[in-house]
Order: sequence, then structure tokens, then C-alpha cells
Amino acid sequence: MIVLGIETSCDETAAAVLADGRRVLSSVVASQDAVHAPYGGVVPELASRRHLEVMVPVIEKAMGDAGVPLHDLDGIAVTQGPGLVGSLLVGCSVAKAMAYARRLPLVGVNHLEGHVYAAFLTDDPPEYPFLALVVSGGHTALYQATAPRQYALLGQTRDDAAGEAFDKVAKLLLLGFPGGPIIQRVAERGDPRAIVFPLAQMTDQAPDFSFSGLKTSVALHVKRRGPLGESDVADVAASFQAAVVKMLVRKTVKAVLHTGVKRVVLSGGVAANGPLRAALAASAIEHGFHLHVPPPRLCTDNAAMIAAAGTVRLEAGERADLAMNAIPDWALAA
Ligand code: KG4
Ligand code: ZN
Repeated sequence: MIVLGIETSCDETAAAVLADGRRVLSSVVASQDAVHAPYGGVVPELASRRHLEVMVPVIEKAMGDAGVPLHDLDGIAVTQGPGLVGSLLVGCSVAKAMAYARRLPLVGVNHLEGHVYAAFLTDDPPEYPFLALVVSGGHTALYQATAPRQYALLGQTRDDAAGEAFDKVAKLLLLGFPGGPIIQRVAERGDPRAIVFPLAQMTDQAPDFSFSGLKTSVALHVKRRGPLGESDVADVAASFQAAVVKMLVRKTVKAVLHTGVKRVVLSGGVAANGPLRAALAASAIEHGFHLHVPPPRLCTDNAAMIAAAGTVRLEAGERADLAMNAIPDWALAA
């Protein structure tokens, strides 16, 4: 089965062609970073306008790169939510138009399930059941995948998403946008033990996350210390990053021990973070679980992961009709 995947949930316009749910024939990602950088964050109106401009050329490039003519497609999978409504609408409208014109089966995919499915595009796909830590700009959640298309929510952030914290702290340190990759780079020259930022302690047992207190601690530190020199900024970046990593690893290990599930998928944009990947890999050895981490280009937003999740749903007979609409707050699991 050859599936075209389409992704426009936030600020990446992406299309990919996937064969048999596993072989990436092409994957095109048009980043809007340059559009939003002057504002230090994604501006929704600019995002949807840019998606409109580049959506068709991005699809044409994905089809061309794959060398697949339109009539060889067996289906279309599009991100239906969660995300920015104006952005989602662009992808959904194009997908519906193509499905109607070519009489192709269409399926709407949850963006977070897409992130999970990035792990199936590697040489080491996970077996069920597994835990999935999805850490992105909009979401931070820990799921248990019990079988294909079946998820239970184990824990999630009570305030900011991990990626959002990276972006906000980068803004605070005047480092630019998007913050994650920049903080990682600046942190390489800093000491992760320079400042001990306190981590939120949950009073109940839920493996929930919280990052807004950490962000506030960084803001207070910066305010108290006044203008920071280059090496101070590097120390703050490294210490902040270490705190985020510690929180994510701690909760994931707790969930592994609690559920007894010995397979963990790490995905989402923040999973591109080197120190996080390394720390979770070290924990996997220490606690005896198998870690599946897709390469960074599959962790950040892309359409191959949407096509992968969509293929499973198309094969299971799921179909969206032309009344399909964007679901900006679509939860993957309760
Ligand atoms: O999954 P994604 O591409 O888009 C959403 O679904 O939100 O995630 C984007 C987020 C941004 O907040 C970005 O700063 C963060 O992922 N990110 C990183 C790194 N690369 C991207 N965070 C930490 N370290 C990175 N290397
Ligand atoms: Zn994402």
C-alpha cells in the first residue's frame, strides 16, 4: 500500500510518500522557522498563510522525489489534530480535494499518534505493549500503547510542554527561535551543575510533568543576576536543559517500574535533544528496558510519521468522508 501523508498542524508544511507502512519513499518538510523567528514564537495567522503558499509545491516535490505517479497512490493520511486550527485546515482541505478528485481512501490521523509511529520507521520497530514519551512544542505526555490504535494516557504536563519551556527559556536568554536546538548548542559550552533549578514535586503518584515552575526559576535567576555574560548564559542553558532531562527521565523510569512494560518509545521534537536521548539510553541500561528513539529528522514534525500511522488505520478499514474537519484539541487517549 502506497500512502501520501500530509502534515500542517503547526509551523511545518510536510508531505511524504510511504510504502507498506515502513519504507519512506520521500519526505519533504518546509520549515517556517524564518517566518516566525522575528516574533520569538509561532504566529498562527502567518503559519496558515505560509501553509497555503507552499502546500501544493511540497506535495508535488514529495511525489516527484518518490517517483510515484498520482494514480499509484492507494490512500491519503492527513493530520486532523491536535494543532492550530487554521494550519490544520490547510492540510485537511488539500487532502480532501485530492481524495475526492482521485477517488482515494482518506484517513485523519492524530498528530501525537504520528509521533509514536515515527518509531516504526526505524530498523528496530517496537513490539506491543510499549510506553511512549511524546515530547513536543505543544505536548508532553506518557502513553501506554497496548495494541495498534489503542492508547492509555499515563501522565501529561500540568502546564507547559517541554518544547514550550525550551522555547520560552531561549527567548528569556535572548537566544532566538526555535529554542530547543539553540539551547542544546549553547549548553554544550556550559556547566549543567552550575545552577540547581528546583523540579516540581507532585504530591500524588501520577507520572505527570510540570515545567512552568522551572521556567519561572530561570526567569528569577536571570533577573537577579542582571545582564548575563556568554559563559553565564551557557551555564543557565545547560542547567535548565539538565533539569528538563531529569524530569522527563525520572517520570519515564517511574512508569516503566509501575507498569512493568519494558519497551519505551521516545519521540516528538524535543526527542531530537542529544542529552535527553543519552540520559534515557543510560536509564534503559540501568533499569533493563528497551529504548526506541527515531533519528532526529523523524522526531521533529514530518509527514512520513503521519503516513505510517495512517497506513495502519487505512488497512484497518478506517475512512474519513468529505465532512471531515480539523480537531484542534483532539486528545490521543484519556
Ligand atoms: O514535534 P515538534 O516538531 O512540533 C510540535 O508538534 O510541537 O516539536 C517542536 C519543539 C519545539 O519546541 C522545539 O524547540 C523542540 O521541539 N526541539 C528541541 C530540539 N529540537 C526541537 N528541544 C530540545 N532540543 C532539541 N534539539
Ligand atoms: Zn509534533
